Amino acid sequence: TFVVTDNCIKCKYTDCVEVCPVDCFYEGPNFLVIHPDECIDCALCEPECPANAIYSEDEVPADQQQFIELNAELAETWPNITEKKDSLADAEEWDGVEGKIQYLEK
Ligand code: SF4
Ligand code: F3S
Repeated sequence: TFVVTDNCIKCKYTDCVEVCPVDCFYEGPNFLVIHPDECIDCALCEPECPANAIYSEDEVPADQQQFIELNAELAETWPNITEKKDSLADAEEWDGVEGKIQYLEK
């Protein structure tokens, strides 16, 4: 499966959802997640993210391992998203800021 990680938080560009053939992205207030049981590992979304926030599960950086469980957990409660929308207002300013998990809204 693929996993959305820290740098999506407060950016949420949503380019990723447009290319997913199985529509397995789920949307929270300032972050998106991938449902691990629905993702077919096609890898199409990974290069689409302007924030480089998407990784294959086995390539998630060591300091972001918690996002594997977080994607699984939040995909069960958040609504599905299948169409691109505007990124969050300050997305460019937040792109690249480390440790944004402290701002994650559920
Ligand atoms: Fe969707 Fe493919 Fe990305 Fe999985 S790897 S979330 S199936 S686009
Ligand atoms: Fe997030 Fe990147 Fe998609 S910032 S919403 S994972 S395009």
